[in-house]
Amino acid sequence: MTEKKAIEALTFEERVFPPSDEFVAQANAGLEIYEEAEADWLGFWQKQALERVTWFKEPEVVLDDSEAPFFKWFSDGQLNVSYNCLDRHLETGGDKVAYYWEGEPGDTREITYRELYEEVCQVANGLAGLGLKKGDRVALYLGMVPELAIAMLACARLGVAHSVVFGGFSSDALAQRIQDAECKVLITGDGSWRRGKSFPLKENADVAVAECPSIEHVVVVKRTGEEVAWDDAKDVWYHDLIDGQPKEREPEVMDAEDMLYILYTSGTTAKPKGIVHTTGGYLAGAATTHHYVFDIKPDDVYWCAADIGWVTGHSYIVYGPLANHTTGVMYEGTPDFPDKDRLWQIVEKYKVTKFYTAPTAIRAFMKWGEEYPAKHDLSSLKLLGTVGEPINPEAWIWYHRVIGGESCPIVDTWWQTETGAIMITPLPGAVATKPGSATKGFPGIFPDIVDDSGESVPLGGGGYLVIRKPWPSMLRTIYGDPERYKETYWSQHEGIYFAGDGCKRDDEGYFWLLGRVDDVMNVSGHRLSTTEIESALVAHDAVAEAAVVGRADEITGQAIAAFVTLRSGVTGDEALVKELRNWVSEKISPIARPASIVLTDDLPKTRSGKIMRRLLKDISEQRQLGDVTTLANADVVSAISDMAASRPQED
Ligand code: PRX
Repeated sequence: MTEKKAIEALTFEERVFPPSDEFVAQANAGLEIYEEAEADWLGFWQKQALERVTWFKEPEVVLDDSEAPFFKWFSDGQLNVSYNCLDRHLETGGDKVAYYWEGEPGDTREITYRELYEEVCQVANGLAGLGLKKGDRVALYLGMVPELAIAMLACARLGVAHSVVFGGFSSDALAQRIQDAECKVLITGDGSWRRGKSFPLKENADVAVAECPSIEHVVVVKRTGEEVAWDDAKDVWYHDLIDGQPKEREPEVMDAEDMLYILYTSGTTAKPKGIVHTTGGYLAGAATTHHYVFDIKPDDVYWCAADIGWVTGHSYIVYGPLANHTTGVMYEGTPDFPDKDRLWQIVEKYKVTKFYTAPTAIRAFMKWGEEYPAKHDLSSLKLLGTVGEPINPEAWIWYHRVIGGESCPIVDTWWQTETGAIMITPLPGAVATKPGSATKGFPGIFPDIVDDSGESVPLGGGGYLVIRKPWPSMLRTIYGDPERYKETYWSQHEGIYFAGDGCKRDDEGYFWLLGRVDDVMNVSGHRLSTTEIESALVAHDAVAEAAVVGRADEITGQAIAAFVTLRSGVTGDEALVKELRNWVSEKISPIARPASIVLTDDLPKTRSGKIMRRLLKDISEQRQLGDVTTLANADVVSAISDMAASRPQED
């Protein structure tokens, strides 16, 4: 270990999957695109912005860094994002399906680009009638219904910034976000379907609105048909709002640096940050990455199975795909309703060609077993994607084999709410993939790995992931708190963006994400990432999912505590626990051997599916548990606490 390494790189995966000749022959991009961007990165982005976006006034300035880190992109350009997603496609293909929407109870809706355009215009007219105008903010609190995408586009048409709040959040979370952005209107629903039950959106919204004096109107989409409380002074049904409204409306002319939306990310502790994205650079980034990373073709049926409440849904269900005139699938419910084959049934039904999901979902599919995908014909699939967490190599291999039939390239895409678009990813027709690696920077994106002093770490080493140059879809600020923006992202190392993730790079320059730097453990002076140890555990046949944390230890500083869920059909006993501890020791090194392993049915997750290691650390150190309100599955915590209390093993 050389001294300056910030995080140790313990293992490297050897398996390599080059793109097939067949895929390469039809791919949207080959290696030449990297060379082009390398030779002139600003020219590359300028070209993409002009090609993929229709401007009312074409930009001449590419990047303005005069007030860095408050960078501006295409700042003299003018456009409207909803025009780009809708109007411009009407002539070339208004009858093309924009979304196949599948409701959880089994009802469906097929929406063409023309129909989408017309309803967006009606909503925009309705919202304008409520007094909304350019520069105002609107909160959206809905399930995965078409009206959510429609409302976003209607806001974009009016130049009103939307703030989508995930439809599973509590009234407190909603109120806090509405207050921070001083939203004037809230668009919600009566309820939303989740695993066969209704989630009470309106009831939560009412509690929130009581604390939000800025809200003048609440627009309510009827979805579940349940009874809801009604305030005639404020509340209006969505169907009444649009009834009789003209199916046209001129889009507002927006400057490229006008705000498109705010999206809150909750760190593990502090107040959520309102991440601000603007119009021109964001749309150029989302559309360009969507086109190349998913290798989008006119006849694709593309399904990003995320929730629109997260940035993945903003960029890759709504803005990127619609700008590219793509046909998408949108699904309302959970993957296990009414049974664990629901997603595969949808893939078969719509002949989905491109499928994008999260490692947490893939690990759940692994846990449930191969019989569910085996019930369906998945041969329409041509490419698979993953996002949100490091994917354990074994989960990658499973996805490749069981879902992709060993013939689909996998794009492991690293990015963040803050980055707006995919940053580190293979291009599927150009880059050989390695299970667990997000591979390389997208053309025109400059990731690097640095140590504590900000020096670049040589190939083969680990450290902090940074982005060396600005990029078009970057966040512009934190809403109402520019100081926090500078402090959080630009103060660690002068002039470069700090992502907050640990990362290592192999001898070929491939990036391997190692999880959040807050989760890095220090065991006997070794700074170890959680990801590698978790991946070693998941590589064992018995294991479906693993989470690792460092708990305080008098001798070693921190000791490795692992929490493991088993694949269906496997029973756990002491012998297995012992075997797993030895397994990690052999696979990685004795320093990575977990001091304890707790077998559990489930792991605590955030609502976007990320493992909450902070809570597991609290449990391991037998501390009073922190805030669990953002947990998707709060009841698992007490079960795990009970098991961990009888702290087993250690030698
Ligand atoms: O830690 C990284 C992880 O998710 C974080 C960003 O989370 P969020 O803003 O919610 O956006 C998620 C969807 C873009 C990152 O800092 N992350 C995301 N993608 C990957 C990942 N970690 C490893 N590999 C990925 N592909």
